[in-house]
Amino acid sequence: MSEKFREGIPAWTREHAESLRRDDSNVAPVIYPPDERLDDDLHIWDTWFLRNRDGSVAEIDGYRVVFSLTSSSDLLPGKRHDVATIRYFYSRDGEEWTTGGVVFDGGALGQRQWAGSAMYDPDGDGGDVYLYYTAAGEDGAEELTYTQRIAVATGGTVRTDDAGFSIEGSWDHRIILTPDGDWYEREDQSRGMIYTFRDPWFFEDPASGETYLLFEANTPVPEGAGECDDPVWEEFNGSVGIAHSPTGDPTDFELRPPLLDAVCVNQELERPHLVVRDGTYHLFVSSHVHTFAPGLTGYDALYGFVADDLAGDYEPLNGHGMVLTNPKGAPFQAYSWLVYDHGDDLLVSSFFNYFDYDRPSLDDVGLLPPEEQQRRFGGTLAPTVRVALDGDETDVLGTLGHGHLPLPRETLPTPWWERDGDATR
Ligand code: FRU
Repeated sequence: MSEKFREGIPAWTREHAESLRRDDSNVAPVIYPPDERLDDDLHIWDTWFLRNRDGSVAEIDGYRVVFSLTSSSDLLPGKRHDVATIRYFYSRDGEEWTTGGVVFDGGALGQRQWAGSAMYDPDGDGGDVYLYYTAAGEDGAEELTYTQRIAVATGGTVRTDDAGFSIEGSWDHRIILTPDGDWYEREDQSRGMIYTFRDPWFFEDPASGETYLLFEANTPVPEGAGECDDPVWEEFNGSVGIAHSPTGDPTDFELRPPLLDAVCVNQELERPHLVVRDGTYHLFVSSHVHTFAPGLTGYDALYGFVADDLAGDYEPLNGHGMVLTNPKGAPFQAYSWLVYDHGDDLLVSSFFNYFDYDRPSLDDVGLLPPEEQQRRFGGTLAPTVRVALDGDETDVLGTLGHGHLPLPRETLPTPWWERDGDATR
């Protein structure tokens, strides 16, 4: 690998991250448990919409659809990642969701499936739905392993009638991307925490019409590379990866250099995705307090970056990157944020994570008695947060209900500060 392996890659730097602070513009209101969870039998976490090829939310005969990582709610929440299964849910109004069921009929790759994205293309060769996911763990291994590969499943067909919506089909699964070891770290190169190569996000660039897949990755930093002032920081090497489809075939991608990296800063830039507005590219990721390098104070939060084109010179929003975080007294109440455009504002969905837990890390949550672990885990969708975007600055405006996901054509409920005639909030 050349010494210039990071040349030209936009960086989220320590200098940016040193000014991370909670303030009125980025803290979400405290979340309380909803009257009803999405599904009492399930823990539900990372969630994504079924979208059209151009990124708009698909609406099929009046139904919108989300996919989520799920497990049985009998399981201790900390164990859920080991058995994650993708299920789908559908809704006519974006408020009441019906559980559709498990998506795959048994042939999914990996020991379990982690996050991804879903594209609806009834005119494509792959059935109606292209479901991108992370094949986590080695197929056939007896022990749980942490290998991550990017997979696509094709062949699912959708059906609707008055009774509801369903996805059926005999899916065809294939691995479409693995890390190359130069731009993207392989498992055997990892020097610190477990490497990442996951969370594929389908994206068609409106400027060129070209087809891409974004994903979470790490930049390989060889020992002695001298990338950071302190060699320990070199283990914190998160990146936003991208692959391009030369033909537009949504199952055939080639790796390209990362869009952004956070070497010396943060190890996990999770679930990267883009919102393009008026030709400006807003790149969002989720990250954790514990994945920041020593000497930096970060938060479990949604972070964002802005550039003039897809492979542009991404700069952090708000100077430091933080867009939305949890309150000080409930620092882990939500995670895995996804942003979509809604008229003047952005809407941000996430899942309701650990509440009633105001410790600085989640390290000891597993030491609580099992019933306390269960009680404090939300395991359903969090209230959707409405965020204003003005140039490179953002401002949290308020929240909608748990799991309320309106389409752009649907008007949002009037915020309380306008309802009671009070202009201040
Ligand atoms: C974020 C995440 C994703 C991954 C999933 C596994 O919540 O870490 O990156 O796909 O959880 O459960």
